[in-house]
Amino acid sequence: MSRKHIVAGNWKMNKNLSETQALLTALTEKKNTGDAQVIVAPTAINLHAAVTTLEGSEIKVAAQNMHQAESGAYTGEISASMIDSVGIDTVILGHSERRAYFHEDDALLTEKVNTAIAHGFTVIFCFGEELEDRKNEKHFNVVESQLKNALFHLTAAQWSHIVLAYEPVWAIGTGETASPEQAQEMHAFIRNTVSTSYDTTTADQVSILYGGSVKPGNAKEIFSKPDVDGGLIGGASLKADDFFEIVNAF
Ligand code: 13P
Repeated sequence: MSRKHIVAGNWKMNKNLSETQALLTALTEKKNTGDAQVIVAPTAINLHAAVTTLEGSEIKVAAQNMHQAESGAYTGEISASMIDSVGIDTVILGHSERRAYFHEDDALLTEKVNTAIAHGFTVIFCFGEELEDRKNEKHFNVVESQLKNALFHLTAAQWSHIVLAYEPVWAIGTGETASPEQAQEMHAFIRNTVSTSYDTTTADQVSILYGGSVKPGNAKEIFSKPDVDGGLIGGASLKADDFFEIVNAF
């Protein structure tokens, strides 16, 4: 199987400039004993400094969000070309916090995905059901429609730019993780959905990350599942020791 293992740290709105540099320096001193590609996503204002601090390191930097327009009167926003200009080619889109607090819906995410792809970026596309959906046994339907609405217009070739991140909302920042079996069940469903709409090659090649309360203590078991190709880590990515324990769970 040729798909990549990836462990990405989504720092969310944490770490000022000096804290960012200190954490990144600590990360560069760690040894990656496995085969996971390591990605960190600091807040936008520190992206340039992050790239500079990580020069010569194998750790990649991603943006947490970007605007869909090329440029213009969008106060407070950052564009793909701004991200590109500091040496970054990866962006997280569709995070549940962006969906919930900033009203990002499937239509908007489609535009953002298209802009990112047009710039040759890799998109770490987040999606996942809420607790209500799971209680009502709607979780497969919700996930399927999130994927179809924002990604299934892409060509099979464009899927080489997509990394999927399944993050059940009820497991984010709550300390409650999906069980390894629940993660595997959903990841297999996701891969099968991609396979049905595209082909098995596309489905086999897309990395599907799990996110939601991944910690050093549970990473190994979650990552041992055949359709779990890595993790998108929030809280535990803010500590170098914890983050690298997770990286080295591969
Ligand atoms: P936690 O690891 O803090 O639950 O956050 C997960 C997440 O939202 C990563 O994007």
